[in-house]
Amino acid sequence: MQKNEKNYYEILEISLSATPDEIELAYRKAKTLYSEDSVAVYSLYTSEEREQKLSELLDMYSTLSDPSKRRAYDDYLKAEHIEKRKEWDVNSVASGKDIFEEYTEAGAFRDKLSLKKAITVMDNSDPMFSEKYRILFNKLEQMCLKNSFKSFAVTSAIKGEGKTVTTLNLAYIMAAEFKKKVLVIESDLRNPAISSDYLNMGRLYGLVDVLKGDADVRSAINRLEDTNLYFLPARCSVKNSSLLLDSPQMRNLMTRAREDFDYVIVDCPPILPLVDISMISKSIDAFLLVVRAGSTPKDIVKKAAKSLPEAGLLGIVLNGADHMHMNKYYY
Ligand SMILES: Nc1ncnc2c1ncn2[C@@H]1O[C@H](COP(=O)(O)OP(=O)(O)OP(=O)(O)O)[C@@H](O)[C@H]1O
Ligand SMILES: [Mg+2]
Repeated sequence: MQKNEKNYYEILEISLSATPDEIELAYRKAKTLYSEDSVAVYSLYTSEEREQKLSELLDMYSTLSDPSKRRAYDDYLKAEHIEKRKEWDVNSVASGKDIFEEYTEAGAFRDKLSLKKAITVMDNSDPMFSEKYRILFNKLEQMCLKNSFKSFAVTSAIKGEGKTVTTLNLAYIMAAEFKKKVLVIESDLRNPAISSDYLNMGRLYGLVDVLKGDADVRSAINRLEDTNLYFLPARCSVKNSSLLLDSPQMRNLMTRAREDFDYVIVDCPPILPLVDISMISKSIDAFLLVVRAGSTPKDIVKKAAKSLPEAGLLGIVLNGADHMHMNKYYY
């Protein structure tokens, strides 16, 4: 098993003492993730990849449902755990103080941020709209857990498809209803709508200041008052955005943020006219592609999805459709 790989119990989301019935139920549930009729978010697995996932699941199931195989697997996990523990002890001594440590101490955070403009899901005035984001999060969480993803970037083929709206509503639902500690990073340094339209920034620092070395990350991340939702806004637009996003500071920041937050969501510029997205892809686990329903031509979406570099595509969100759902036909 690789360092960050999950074991069978973690993948199936069951306890080490799960009963045979629980194992069977978890196996059936996991299988549905790769089925054709999954709605809300559809991962763009090819049919070969889907076959592969299904056969891995079957392997897990047959191991855990056979008592002697399960005992052998449990013994293997125990040995593995002891090895990991040793590795962890060595690493934690070596790495020293966590740059986010201060934030996790009770009372260290200040609720400095307030909103200029409400996020739609906040007052639940449109229950169907909120429900779509709940479904979206449930699907995303399953995929993130299975792939050990924590940070994902929200992008789209072209401008104005709803990336920022999707980022904010999703992040708010995750923090407010699912009690996740969520960090939203605004990486659209050319058109920073979160800083200009949504947050009362006052004199707060932003990502631009951190990447230029004018502020440290601790002073630039702030919590939205009365929530578990944190923001690292851009603050202002810059011309040399690719240069800043391609810096070691950006990658370092993302690595540390992954450790301190349950999820990190990066609001991005669109894919096609910019190089920024390939810089961002170096510091995230996967992309979520927003498609404005009925407006963006399919071949443009297809081209954009194919051009996504390095990090994989987690799914496609159809924004503005009656039912937000994933569409696999782009590949
Ligand atoms: N489902 C929707 N229904 C109605 N209006 C929407 C919807 N989604 C987004 N909008 C509106 O469309 C505009 C663009 O949305 P948003 O800013 O989220 O897009 P974006 O992809 O982040 O744009 P940009 O590429 O400029 O960053 C905004 O005015 C937003 O309020
Ligand atoms: Mg935007």
